[in-house]
Amino acid sequence: MAIKTYPGLIDAHVHLREPGATDKEDFYTGSRSAVAGGFTFVLDMPNNPLPTVSIARLQEKINLSKKAICDIGFFYGTDGQNIKSFKEAAKNPRVYGLKIFLNHTTGDLLVHDLAALEEIFKAWNSDKPIAVHAENIELAAAIDLANLYNRRLHVCHLSLAESVELVRKAKAKKYKITAGATPHHLFLTGEDRKKLGGYADMKPPLGSKKDQTALWQALNDGTIDIVETDHAPHAKAEKERENPAFGVTGLETAVGLLFLAVKEKKIKESQIKKLLYDNPRRIFNIPIQLKTSVLINTDKKWIVGEAGYETKCGWSPFNGWEVYGKIEKVVLRGKILLEEGEIVL
Ligand code: DOR
Ligand code: ZN
Repeated sequence: MAIKTYPGLIDAHVHLREPGATDKEDFYTGSRSAVAGGFTFVLDMPNNPLPTVSIARLQEKINLSKKAICDIGFFYGTDGQNIKSFKEAAKNPRVYGLKIFLNHTTGDLLVHDLAALEEIFKAWNSDKPIAVHAENIELAAAIDLANLYNRRLHVCHLSLAESVELVRKAKAKKYKITAGATPHHLFLTGEDRKKLGGYADMKPPLGSKKDQTALWQALNDGTIDIVETDHAPHAKAEKERENPAFGVTGLETAVGLLFLAVKEKKIKESQIKKLLYDNPRRIFNIPIQLKTSVLINTDKKWIVGEAGYETKCGWSPFNGWEVYGKIEKVVLRGKILLEEGEIVL
């Protein structure tokens, strides 16, 4: 048995759905899902039904998040109309960055117009990163604007070999750019849609085998800095209907999948702490928490879903997978949140 001590892990990309879609998840169930997966800090995205694009909505979210059992930080959102509020949002200590959606996904937060995009990059005069949901041409535009205005850019959930190449080139030019990949883009491809149906639908969509290979390569050569789950719960009925909602759960399976990747020799064990703690902490400038740790039994095999799920929506695209790395204990600022694999609150 190899029990290893890690710091409380960080997931820089989750959608906890409160307010507005608490049938799917809320700060309590979402944070339980985080802790079950070994995370003590998550960054919540702004694409709620009423998006987080004003200080009042941000404050509402901060208040609602008091029910969470782990730490939550927030991305501020933009529809291009809320530039005047950027200064105040950026100085809020609970805000860790600005999120821009350049491609269509859940909700209506979409910036399509290049002029509007430029205004946003100009106005976000902060050291906190601009995180973008963008691929291909939109990604190229975001990279250029970030460089022009000297902004830190984080590229969320890379899924295409071409986008990986754009990031690699920008890094070679010493641009202030970082990138993330999700476990679902690393472990699944478009082929998996045949058996998973709507449970494999998300934005960006699953790629080809070639894209998947490019992601693993990028994870190993440092082009990809972090693994971010993009935990995006939807009700089963929404995934089983004709036009399924976009998004999959991810908080409870990320660690297990990464230790599976170690067993399969896709990555080295030493990378896990970098991907799930050191790099997200550095990129988003997340404060260090004392007496905060996660004990992981790195050799222990377990089956996804066998003990149920903490996420309110109750499913995972990895249900039934044999993975490794069981979360044994989670402590946040001295308080035990999970022991012997069970949340104790
Ligand atoms: O698949 C996705 N679902 N991608 C996103 O960017 C948003 C997310 C959601 O909120 O459902
Ligand atoms: Zn997302």
